[in-house]
Amino acid sequence: MSIIIIVAQSKNGTIGVNGALPWHLSDDLKRFRRLTTGNTVIMGRKTWDSIGRPLPDRHNIVITRTPELCLEGAQTVTSLEEALRVAPTGLDQFIIGGAEIYNLALPKADSIEMTLIHKNVAGDTFFPVLSEESWRKSVGIEQVDEKSGLQFSYVAYHRRGSS
Ligand SMILES: NC(=O)c1ccc[n+]([C@@H]2O[C@H](COP(=O)([O-])OP(=O)(O)OC[C@H]3O[C@@H](n4cnc5c(N)ncnc54)[C@H](OP(=O)(O)O)[C@@H]3O)[C@@H](O)[C@H]2O)c1
Repeated sequence: MSIIIIVAQSKNGTIGVNGALPWHLSDDLKRFRRLTTGNTVIMGRKTWDSIGRPLPDRHNIVITRTPELCLEGAQTVTSLEEALRVAPTGLDQFIIGGAEIYNLALPKADSIEMTLIHKNVAGDTFFPVLSEESWRKSVGIEQVDEKSGLQFSYVAYHRRGSS
């Protein structure tokens, strides 16, 4: 059972704009579904709002500062620690964003599954800069999205000092 951050970011660290994703990459969405299905997904309330429904075949947990918030198809909690505590045992815990929750989760994550878009993209929400001292990087082959022409690759980070 691992704590895994999953994120798509541009070269300049953008992950969102106006409460939504700045791009549409169908291969990335399929990969997201494949990796997270059957596991727990933990997200901030704004990311929940942007998705607009529970992600099927996954245990959905939403972090909010409003304890009385009731969401259909998701468990609400008031801290990342509570999310990790109440998540079903035996499943991987995927931290699916957004920026506020990535920042909280970074010190606790075992690994990061990043889709890196090979260009600068304007936005208003950013992934934190990773320190090379803490994270070992492995880079996949470059791919091109047929529809948008965007070049991207899948990059994995593992915490240094862990197996
Ligand atoms: N590219 C990607 O991979 C990716 C992934 C996910 C999201 N995104 C994008 O990121 C943007 C949203 O990110 P965001 O950073 O604005 O919001 P977010 O992290 O999704 O959610 C922020 C909310 O989480 C709750 N929260 C944050 N810290 C908390 C704490 N310490 N304790 C309790 N609750 C806490 C608060 O909810 P309340 O206000 O309810 O209290 C806060 O408003 C959108 O544009 C989305 O499309 C991109």
